[in-house]
Amino acid sequence: MINFEFCSPTKFVFGRGAEVKVGALVKQFGGTKALVHFGGGSVKRTGVYDKVIAALWDAGVAFVELGGVQPNPREALVREGIALCRKEKVDFILAVGGGSVIDSAKAIAFGATYDGDFADHAFGKDTKVMTPVPSALPIGTVLTIAAAGSEGSCNSIISLGEEKLKRTITGDRLRPRFSILNPEFTFTLPPYQTACGLADIFAHVVERYFTPTGRVTVTDELCEAVMRTVVAESAAVMANPEDYEARANIMWAGTVAHNNVCGVGRAQDWSSHGIEHELSALYDCAHGAGLAVVMPAWMKYVKDAGLERFARFAERVWGVEKGDDLAAMADEGIARYTAWLKSIGLPTTFAELGAKGEDIPKLAANLHLNGKSLGAFRPLTETDVREILKLAL
Ligand code: NZQ
Ligand code: ZN
Repeated sequence: MINFEFCSPTKFVFGRGAEVKVGALVKQFGGTKALVHFGGGSVKRTGVYDKVIAALWDAGVAFVELGGVQPNPREALVREGIALCRKEKVDFILAVGGGSVIDSAKAIAFGATYDGDFADHAFGKDTKVMTPVPSALPIGTVLTIAAAGSEGSCNSIISLGEEKLKRTITGDRLRPRFSILNPEFTFTLPPYQTACGLADIFAHVVERYFTPTGRVTVTDELCEAVMRTVVAESAAVMANPEDYEARANIMWAGTVAHNNVCGVGRAQDWSSHGIEHELSALYDCAHGAGLAVVMPAWMKYVKDAGLERFARFAERVWGVEKGDDLAAMADEGIARYTAWLKSIGLPTTFAELGAKGEDIPKLAANLHLNGKSLGAFRPLTETDVREILKLAL
């Protein structure tokens, strides 16, 4: 086990009706005037917005609002939010929605306190503000989709400019002070968005599970439990979107998968995420769908770097019978993972995603590796990335 620091200061308020506490929570964490940030309208259609606003009124919290966050959130709305926060002297950001809304809220929270351009940090141009972010307004979330894990994570992923690149802003100051998780709020998700969320949650554990560091047993066992839970509950939730217990287990799995409790003590990979972010930046596809295309291909390409780990994944997550032929076990585990992704209705090839083979060189180049490698399980060059994407055609 390698040395680590683990900071997960978010207060999670979980369950039916939890949103009634939102106003009191904003006040508890020092907010007097909030920016209520939301997406393209789902929260208004489902009634979540009205419940949140009522709770803010009840607690006497002043607020302004900014909707319109698109999936794969854009830099332009972040800038609008930063300007609004400064003009209105906002001291708290409340995100009501999914990962895109929360990430946009986090970027606004950073940018509103930063004496410079927030995107310089994401591009790494400004050496004064390299990781982690030096400051941010406090953030709270009301989560409406179990997927990105942004409700407990230290990251914000923003699509930048005309270049169609996705970049990460990071730092413990971006971790929400509180997150309200009411599984009932996810009943209204369309099946495809539910499936994208399941794939993303699973992928967050995979990125941490496939590691070159040996014998981090607690973390391994936690990872396996979360992956098995996601797969086990997926059938129930796809069959009945209003299965509260399935939604509840998936929602908590989504948080645990990405607040890093499943990642400490070892090197993590993250190459599939790095590759996928360029897909969702270029094609504006759902992040979870992009992962369903990239991750099986990544597994096929890197498996020989750690057949024992892949065999363990096959046995403990997918129930593959233990045998002497580790390569056969690994292949069967990857096949069952891919079959699961298909079974919940996700694309697993470029063609099914609507991506184009001729864009592969551009997608790989957009990672801007500049001679550096990507990932830890099996460090990848730009050439490796192109080969992985070819396996996904
Ligand atoms: O925009 P609205 O109208 O709200 O609709 C959304 C959106 O169209 C809809 N939706 C959300 N909750 C709903 C609902 N529709 C009906 N009922 C509900 N309860 O779902 C669509 C997708 O929402 P989005 O927020 O984009 O989904 P997700 O949570 O998957 O977030 C994806 C973003 O998170 C980033 C991804 O790159 C992507 O940009 N990620 C952020 C991470 C982080 N901050 O730590 C880590 C992840 O790996 C990921 O990269
Ligand atoms: Zn993800």
